Order: sequence, then C-alpha cells, then structure tokens
Amino acid sequence: MGFTMGLNLLLLVAMVATNILSLYHLSSTLQSTKSPVSQPVPDHLIRQLQTIRATINHLTRLHPTAAASASKTKLSIPSDLVLYSQFSPIASSCHTNPELLHKFMNYTPFSSCPSDSDLAEALILRGCHPLPRRRCFAKTPQKPSSSLPQNPFASSLPESNIIWEKYSCKGLGCLNRLNPNLGFDPSHEITKFMTFKTELDLPIPQLLQIAKAANSVLRLGLDIGGGTATFAARMKLYNVTMVTTTMNLGAPYNEVAALRGLVPLHVPLQQRLPIFDGVMDLVRCGHAVNRWIPVKSMEFLFYDLDRVLRVGGYLWFDHFFSKGVDLDKLYSPLITKLGYRKVKWATASKTDSGGLKNGEVYLTALLQKPVPS
Ligand SMILES: *[C@@H]1O[C@H](CO)[C@@H](O)[C@H](O)[C@H]1NC(C)=O
Repeated sequence: MGFTMGLNLLLLVAMVATNILSLYHLSSTLQSTKSPVSQPVPDHLIRQLQTIRATINHLTRLHPTAAASASKTKLSIPSDLVLYSQFSPIASSCHTNPELLHKFMNYTPFSSCPSDSDLAEALILRGCHPLPRRRCFAKTPQKPSSSLPQNPFASSLPESNIIWEKYSCKGLGCLNRLNPNLGFDPSHEITKFMTFKTELDLPIPQLLQIAKAANSVLRLGLDIGGGTATFAARMKLYNVTMVTTTMNLGAPYNEVAALRGLVPLHVPLQQRLPIFDGVMDLVRCGHAVNRWIPVKSMEFLFYDLDRVLRVGGYLWFDHFFSKGVDLDKLYSPLITKLGYRKVKWATASKTDSGGLKNGEVYLTALLQKPVPS
C-alpha cells in the first residue's frame, strides 16, 4: 500500500512536471464524461493529489478516467518498476495505463525479455515515453544475415534480420502486396521526392537549390513520421544526414529504416524531441502531421520543431492535410505565428475519397526560420 501511494504521488508529480500530452487520451476524452474518483490514499494526501490532478486537467484537458480505473483495479507493482521509479522519473502518461505498464515491467531480470514489443508500442502511443528501462535481453533474430546493403534503395533487404512474429505479415513481399505505398517496396520508394507533378511537390533538387541560393547549407535534418525513411534515403545520396522519427504501427518501419542504413528514432509525435536546441538545418513533416493531431498537441510539436531548428534552417510541411475551413481559421494562423519566412506556400484540394467527403485540402509549405531582429 505504501508503495502504491508513494508511486502514485511520484507519477502525478512527474505528470505535472513533464506535462506530456497523450493523443490517445485526448481522443478518448471525447467519449468519457465520468467524474473523478478518489484515490485510496490517506486524507493528508488526497487534497494534494486532487490539486495536482485539477492542475493537470486544466493544463492538458485530460480526464482522469484511467487514474480512476487504476484505483478500482488492485495491481501489485512489479519490483523492478518500484526500483526504476526510485531513480528515474517515469513519463507522465505511464501512470494512467497501469495495467499496460505493470505488464511491461513484469519480467524476470537478467533473462530474456518477453516478446512484447506491441506492448511497448501501445504504451508509447498513449504518451508513456520514454519507457522505463528493463534489465533483460531483448529478442534478437535467429539467423541474421551479415550482408547489409550500402545503398538505401537496394532492391532486397535481409528479411531474416527482422523478427516477424509480432507482425501479421511475415515478410516484405506480403507488406507490398497489402499496400505498395507503405514504404517497403524499393522500386516504388525510388520514385519519391524527385519529380514535380503538382504545386504541392517540392523535389529535393529544387529544395537544395533554394537553400543554396539563400546561402543556407543543408547538412543535417529531421524527418517527422518518416515511415521507412525514404526521404532520409534520398537525402543520403546528396550527402545530407537525416534522422527519421517513426513508429511501428503493424509493420517493421524502424527495422527497415535501420536495414537501409538510416537512423530511426522510435518516438511518438507528442514526445519532446531528443535533440538539442538549434542544431538542425531542416525539419520535414510528412503526412503523419495532419488534422488528426489535437491542435494543442500540434502546437507543442511545432514549437519543439522550432526549438531544434537553427536560425536560417527550413521547416517543410509536405502535404499537410486538414479541412479547408480549418486551414484558414486554425492551421495557417498557427503556422504563421512561428514568424517564419514563407518560401513556398501551396494549397490544393485533396481529391481522394476521404478528402472529398470531408472537404479536405493539402498544404505544402517551405518556411525559413528568421534571424532574430
Ligand atoms: C557525396 O560525397 C561523396 C564523397 O565525398 C562525393 O563523391 C559525392 O559526389 C557527393 N555527392 C553529392 C551529390 O554531392
């Protein structure tokens, strides 16, 4: 009991301190209207906890339904979770998913880790990031190939280096048959970022030309939600180093990016980027950054992108999509508020079935971070 109480308090304080948003919770909030339930803690802590919770709710508009359900479920805390939480803060949203977190930390130290990468993914997507460390050996492929390609567009990748058991597809061919646009088909990937078909396109040679003309060298960049890192692959051929944030939603995006010789960062959109201030020449936001992200969360994302960009660096929204009316009323002002110079700003209707149904538009914008005046 003492442990539970102490841990709850610790986690709540950590939540206030880090104020990390969870997309999952923001979206699930919409469906729930239950009122807060008291935690099973002594009186002298209840008031404190409620104040903290009220602050959290105010700050993030989160609803403490998960915390309430935690109090209903009696969970014994794995000893390694108690140990870890004594010397490292656990990200705010972890405590709102105690069942998942406890399952994740319930393992035998110093032996093989359980096969539970889907659990890690689920926690990260709920805003529980960074995950606690574990003292176990992560699963490795049984028969990895040592012949790794130098070329990021190599026509075949050693599939035996991927642990397929956690995915419904058991090979790259299966993923390509499922959908050739997922990013796993090199013959499809090699066509990307090089051609100008509509105003929404910004081919890489043109991007480099723009930067060069402005005396702004591009050496280092970040691709947000970059799938199998095809943008990084193409930029590598121009000697530009990119790191790519990517999740593993049902397919081995991180593994494939790495097999292509490109750096995958396994971080969700609501995570503060593990990159220092003002060090990036370029940040690209692809499709993953779109109207499905709650606006408040998007604000935090944009300002974090601004933080990591250097003065004179470029922020590129590549096919951002939203409802037409929201672009004018919401997203344009949000982007404009950053005070960046508009190098390119192109919009067009999104003409696929979802786009037509919802009155959606695309925006491609290239913006340059200004020199402070
Ligand atoms: C990239 O660097 C290599 C080695 O320095 C050089 O040979 C090549 O021409 C460069 N490629 C481009 C597109 O600048």
